[in-house]
Amino acid sequence: MERPALELAARDILLGNLRRGTAEWNGQEYSFVVPSLTGYPFQWFWDSCFHAIALIHIDCNQAKAELDTLMSAALPNGFIPHIIFWESEKRDYFLSKNLVARVNPNFSSTIQPPILAYAVERVYQATGDEAFRERSLPVLVNYYRWLKENRDPDKDGLLSIIQPEESGIDCSPKYDEILKLTDLCNQGFIEALNRIYSSYELIRSDELSMLNADVFHVEDVLVNSIYALSLQSLARLLGDTDESLNTLNDASKTMESLVNKCWDVDTEAFLDLNGLQEIPNRTVTISSLMPIILPDLSPYIVKRLVEKWIMSEDHFWLPYPLPSVPASNSKFIPGDPHGFIWRGPSWINTNWFITKGLKLHGYQELADDISAKSLACIQQSGFREYYNPYTGEGLGAKNFGWSTLILDM
Ligand code: GLC
Repeated sequence: MERPALELAARDILLGNLRRGTAEWNGQEYSFVVPSLTGYPFQWFWDSCFHAIALIHIDCNQAKAELDTLMSAALPNGFIPHIIFWESEKRDYFLSKNLVARVNPNFSSTIQPPILAYAVERVYQATGDEAFRERSLPVLVNYYRWLKENRDPDKDGLLSIIQPEESGIDCSPKYDEILKLTDLCNQGFIEALNRIYSSYELIRSDELSMLNADVFHVEDVLVNSIYALSLQSLARLLGDTDESLNTLNDASKTMESLVNKCWDVDTEAFLDLNGLQEIPNRTVTISSLMPIILPDLSPYIVKRLVEKWIMSEDHFWLPYPLPSVPASNSKFIPGDPHGFIWRGPSWINTNWFITKGLKLHGYQELADDISAKSLACIQQSGFREYYNPYTGEGLGAKNFGWSTLILDM
């Protein structure tokens, strides 16, 4: 597909999934893209950031509106929810099918990978709009301060997540053990989630108590790679200020902890740390490659990730790479997961991250190959939620928002 046709097709998805209006519950105006009109009819945190990045290539004003809407949902303490139910009339039906932790009926009490500052920086770079940068900064500063103060109890620079959806890769097999998952299907996952939610019931609004409960306490590699990347963006957005220097130091601390605590010399991959005891989680998934997005990663580590994992046909190098779980994992499911997602198929957002990292570290050709194969999936099946890594067949939601990230690859 030539670039103009691709842009037109992506525009159809992004503008087709656009929701504009005024929320009944808080009187605020919203203007954002839903991940999918049928399956995901609200605003999701990291989806929205991806939509804004794709929108840079189509409609910069809408890219700003997308992020302004997301940031307008920030609470006074800095927290930004992972789902905001702007159109509350659709909420009850959604909640009858999905489990969402809430202390307020109109939004979730969960985080998602904190890519917001990176998205704001990209939109700012594309538009040069100072007013946008200035109104975003206080929200960003508050948000990243909230994360640091509430999600890094051991102060090693690594954020902890308290339930699997906070990483955005909900049912990844890397969480099976900590979830005590035995029934390997979506229903089993929902039951495991319910167990976690029950144990948080009385402490839901107290982050530290939930972390100390050590029910699901994961210093997650994907989340922290995105955290470090975004802190670097925030530091640049802050310009020449003390706050910028502090933010850059925070980014370096996260990066150093990823290398010193999560890089495993035997596995030659980055491993999550489970629980207050920080036990390395040996299940390698797409998450284990994510620090490749960080500019300061050593060439040696990048080379090992590329040669041992990305380019290996036993692991991630399948006809339509990169699968969310390497083919070598006994739990790898390449086809329709029936809702039990992130256990095999390839996703455009993780390909976008990995290609970005590969280019940064000089692996342009490899990155281009992954981008071309991602495009082939879209040409074959349209903008789907994820794709079979052997056949390229589209799976999951149709007209899925963040697959338009192909415009930025
Ligand atoms: C699924 C994904 C999550 C995404 C959401 C909306 O729950 O796992 O990452 O944000 O759908 O697309």
